[in-house]
Amino acid sequence: MPTVKLTLPHHAYDIVIEPGALAQAGERVRAVVPHERAAVVADENIRSTYGRAVHEALEHAGYDAAVCSMSASESSKTLDTVAGLLDTMLEHRMERRSPVVAVGGGITGDVAGYAAASLLRGVPFVQCPTTLLAMVDASVGGKTGVNTRQGKNLVGAFHQPALVLIDPDTLATLPPRDLRGGLAECVKHGVIRDAGLFDWIDANLDAVLGLERDALVELIRRNVAIKAAVVQEDETEQGVRAHLNFGHTFAHAIEATQDPSADPYSHGEAVALGMVAAARLAVDAGRCEPAVLDRLERLLDRIGLPTSSDRLVPEDALLAVMRSDKKVRDGRVRLVLPDAMGAVSVVDDTPDAAVRAAWASLRG
Ligand SMILES: NC(=O)c1ccc[n+]([C@@H]2O[C@H](COP(=O)([O-])OP(=O)(O)OC[C@H]3O[C@@H](n4cnc5c(N)ncnc54)[C@H](O)[C@@H]3O)[C@@H](O)[C@H]2O)c1
Ligand SMILES: [Zn+2]
Repeated sequence: MPTVKLTLPHHAYDIVIEPGALAQAGERVRAVVPHERAAVVADENIRSTYGRAVHEALEHAGYDAAVCSMSASESSKTLDTVAGLLDTMLEHRMERRSPVVAVGGGITGDVAGYAAASLLRGVPFVQCPTTLLAMVDASVGGKTGVNTRQGKNLVGAFHQPALVLIDPDTLATLPPRDLRGGLAECVKHGVIRDAGLFDWIDANLDAVLGLERDALVELIRRNVAIKAAVVQEDETEQGVRAHLNFGHTFAHAIEATQDPSADPYSHGEAVALGMVAAARLAVDAGRCEPAVLDRLERLLDRIGLPTSSDRLVPEDALLAVMRSDKKVRDGRVRLVLPDAMGAVSVVDDTPDAAVRAAWASLRG
């Protein structure tokens, strides 16, 4: 079964992609972090299914494993939730070598990872991602953290996992909207780094949306390989890791300005709109062929992701949020713009008028 290895100067780990992998979590975890005790942090929506499977597998392999569950909503991605997890883990007498095992989507992984980074100044961490977004993006690379009143993901730590165990079978129960959202990040990987991946998604979309096992394994393998390669080159985002923000500066502005009570765009949907805006900006600036934008819009549309919107706030408000993004340096909006399919550049001298025009073009 496919395994992608992520190698850093101080640490290396396997990302294993295998249907049915959760049932073998016990032996897999034991092979990298043997200990008497462990803690499973499970998203409460899947606690009785995948959470239980991992817990049973760990117990079967000889761990005394505590189970903590948490709600997977952005509003519970907080320091309070981390404090509750730490409390349970300390009560369970976790030690420096006791692994924390996250089972769930990106929210669970980020929160459990931050708890693992903090507990006893850092215990081993294992990710068992159960959303496509978490499989291809959030579970790989060691970024953990929580939201605060001031914004999303402003408090956190780099804490690389000891193992990432991906069971594509868990996608069978994922709501279709979450599957599509994860695909937005896969399309992103294609645009920033791998034109062949973009072509592959285009050619195999029906098999992926139909959850055909081989197609899912291949999709996840290719995307994990890209994320791992980027993280290997630039673990702490001093350079090339910023390419992963393609579409995201626009997306964060959408997410920060939308009404949470009015069926807001999901992260993947906001990223789809953000990628279209960034590609349109690049085309209008003469940086990139219009065919890149056309192909991007067509693929996103086939996936069922938005490429235009009639519910964005005025451009000035969106631009103001972009300027306050934590990735801004010296007040300049930094954008990742496509040069061609599979290649991007970071640009920090885009005139405001061009950014406004890109927003306006999304209104269709
Ligand atoms: N650390 C990183 O590098 C990184 C990268 C990207 C995103 N993120 C973070 O990831 C989070 C988003 O992650 P997400 O999209 O996975 O969201 P999520 O964790 O909220 O999961 C989405 C929904 O799917 C449910 N769910 C999860 N797995 C399921 C399954 N197999 N079957 C049925 N339902 C299932 C969850 O309960 C939830 O309702 C954000 O908080 C974002 O900041 C982190
Ligand atoms: Zn994203």
